[in-house]
Amino acid sequence: MLTRSLLSHWGINLMRILLTGSNGQVGTEFRKLGQGTAEIISTGSRELDLTREEEIRRFVRDAKPDVIVNAASFSDVDAAERNWDACFALNAMAPVVLAEEAHRLDALLIHYSTDQVFDGSKSEPYTEKDRTSPLNVYGASKAAGEQGIASSFAPALILRLSWIYSAQGDNILRSILRLAKHSSELQVANDQVGAPTSARSIARATERLIRMYANSRKTQFPTGIYHLTAEGATTWHGFASALLDATFRQRKPLVIPIATTEHSSFARRPRNSLLSCQKFMTTFGFQLASWQQQLEEVSAELPVETGAAGSELIHHDEA
Ligand SMILES: NC(=O)c1ccc[n+]([C@@H]2O[C@H](COP(=O)([O-])OP(=O)(O)OC[C@H]3O[C@@H](n4cnc5c(N)ncnc54)[C@H](OP(=O)(O)O)[C@@H]3O)[C@@H](O)[C@H]2O)c1
Repeated sequence: MLTRSLLSHWGINLMRILLTGSNGQVGTEFRKLGQGTAEIISTGSRELDLTREEEIRRFVRDAKPDVIVNAASFSDVDAAERNWDACFALNAMAPVVLAEEAHRLDALLIHYSTDQVFDGSKSEPYTEKDRTSPLNVYGASKAAGEQGIASSFAPALILRLSWIYSAQGDNILRSILRLAKHSSELQVANDQVGAPTSARSIARATERLIRMYANSRKTQFPTGIYHLTAEGATTWHGFASALLDATFRQRKPLVIPIATTEHSSFARRPRNSLLSCQKFMTTFGFQLASWQQQLEEVSAELPVETGAAGSELIHHDEA
């Protein structure tokens, strides 16, 4: 039962939200946040296969949402190199169909994109005005999704994220902890720069944006592309070191810095994944906490570990 106070907390009294990717990192956090406080139609790949255009159209027309949050994606960057058709279906075709259907219903589409639309050669954080030039199939598919959404003229908010992790599921944080349990040293790339961002912080920001949308005139709500990441910068090596500092009390494994080129068999990734969030902050009036504060919050949910033996190489599969 939705109470008046909960509804006014969300400010979305009569809003129906269609969530895709509800079993993923961001989707799970968004679903948990909204439980009991909003009408969320949660879908994973079993409920709605986003590679099937007609199924998407039928589902959205039946659901009649006011907001679509598209948290589904083909996120395995290395697998995308060999599965470009499946990757483009999910990351480029599906968002455009969702945008067209959102336009038809006069609904807002909130879609997530990535720092990997850039090649990482810039020495400063990327802004929304920088030209996209992806290095890999995943980045190309996400850039195509962005362009397709823009061409649909749907009211859409595209949030470019980077280096997402959470306490649950299969992600870089979980890989580091799993390997650290059984190893005396971990080798982690120290030549890519980014801002590790918790899935929960993205879910919270999304919830806040939906509240702003609910309380604004539809036509005045800002749409377009925005960068949204944690404040600050580090490398995967810096992130792994901070994570193990927070979660290991004794026999903490050594974290050895290595160069990314040592993982030569995988998709190329940008060296610089930093996104300037200035436009988001100026437009919406808030920003995400620093990557250290976010990691502290997530680490507090993790069990304290003791150490182990051996040596492991950390490889980052996810987007
Ligand atoms: N992860 C990162 O580091 C990162 C960085 C930058 C941007 N992003 C972007 O942020 C967004 C959220 O990322 P995330 O890490 O939360 O994603 P994720 O954990 O990889 O989850 C993606 C979800 O997509 C769903 N999916 C896969 N194939 C599908 C299909 N055919 N039909 C419908 N759903 C399907 C899966 O659903 P089931 O589990 O039900 O199969 C999965 O739970 C994505 O747009 C991603 O590109 C992520």
